[in-house]
Amino acid sequence: MSSRLMALWDWFDARMPSVREQWNQHAAQYYAPKNFNFWYYFGSLAMLVLVIQIASGIVLTMHYKADANLAFGSVEYIMRDVPGGWIIRYIHSTGGSAFFAVVYLHMFRAMLYGSHKKPRELVWVFGVLIYLCLMAEAFFGYLLPWGQMSYWGAQVIVNLFSSIPFIGPDLSLWIRGDYVVSDATLNRFFAFHVIAIPLVLLGLVAVHLLALHDVGSNNPDGIEIKKTKGPDGHPLDGIPFHPYYTVKDIVGVVVFLGIFSAVLFFVPGMGGYFLEYNNFIPADPLKTPAHIAPLWYFTPFYSILRAVPPLFNSVFPGVAMMGLSTLILFFLPWLDRAPVKSIRYRGVYYKTALSVFIVAFLFLGYLGTEPTNVWGQSGAWLGKAERATVAARVFTVIYFLFFLLMPWYTAADKCKPEPERVTM
Ligand code: HEM
Repeated sequence: MSSRLMALWDWFDARMPSVREQWNQHAAQYYAPKNFNFWYYFGSLAMLVLVIQIASGIVLTMHYKADANLAFGSVEYIMRDVPGGWIIRYIHSTGGSAFFAVVYLHMFRAMLYGSHKKPRELVWVFGVLIYLCLMAEAFFGYLLPWGQMSYWGAQVIVNLFSSIPFIGPDLSLWIRGDYVVSDATLNRFFAFHVIAIPLVLLGLVAVHLLALHDVGSNNPDGIEIKKTKGPDGHPLDGIPFHPYYTVKDIVGVVVFLGIFSAVLFFVPGMGGYFLEYNNFIPADPLKTPAHIAPLWYFTPFYSILRAVPPLFNSVFPGVAMMGLSTLILFFLPWLDRAPVKSIRYRGVYYKTALSVFIVAFLFLGYLGTEPTNVWGQSGAWLGKAERATVAARVFTVIYFLFFLLMPWYTAADKCKPEPERVTM
């Protein structure tokens, strides 16, 4: 740093030393395990995407009109007339999908290395809360372009709430602010999408990181580096987060931005997976699209919803299972009873269970994108629709068994002994 900058920093430091203290505590003197690998890029990438979404969202808000008569047109205006508007809109829509891709990989890393286990249960629980907020954020945002899928997607999801016994009808009326999805719904979804949920998200990310930094990061070996400290009191297997990991994370950022830009410039709609074709048609309350499906990141849960048969003409069982499939994530730290954390030292049961779970989750995701005539009304026994429904049911059962049987198979697994020190 030049001497002038140093002088400015000293002036600042003399008046507000807490900034330096925080920087040291969370970066310059935060000792992270020295064996972080590829999987450890996704936390910082999630933060990057959060910043990208907030920045591009602010610019979109300058030109967007939250009014049922103007919303669709204002998005077209952004795409065609606002200078650079198209790229800002594509950054935001691609960013939505990128957020989920990064967060799914980040969660998978936790399951690989047992980062949800003691003493990081709170880090995980805050993470699941972030994930639920992210889902709400994506759902509210999707109504804003006021296309056919925005409108009918919101209609379907809000109607699901009306299947909840006793409170359902009032609850869905309260969410919509009207008897159908309307201008009132658009206005409140806008308020939630641009300020309420982002504020909660930012707060949750802050506590997620505070909780992590209180106990320290896990690592691919799943051992606690704080157990072996050197004479200076720092973990022997730790290195300061800054500059070592700040520099390493730049590699991840560059690769990520390369892939992100390629999508942005060459396939921003990703063949209907990031921007659905029907959403380029203005919302028409009188014309229901033949196939209503959410974006790819919700499809595993949408599959679970469709796989569960209705009871007494009510879809509540499916709604309940869909809700449970996300809420069960909260309990992972207490369901996992293995004596070791990392997949490297776990036995064959957990390795198999996790692999089967991932396959089931991916298949549920795929099946959720397919139009299925869920209750076999097409007539042909074991036609394509029925086969898809049977498959979705099998994968739904696997999804839940992964969690429900976890206390037994993790306790019964033959784990290998963990090393004393991290391996490189
Ligand atoms: C906006 C979304 C999120 C952001 C910005 C975020 C950020 C971070 C960062 C920066 C780290 C430390 C670096 C790293 O370990 O990669 C971290 C660690 C962690 N996160 Fe997240 N996270 C998010 C969502 C989630 C979700 C949804 C979960 C799980 C449900 C989760 C679970 C964890 C766990 C268990 C750790 C500790 C990992 C370890 O020490 O091995 N996070 N997160």
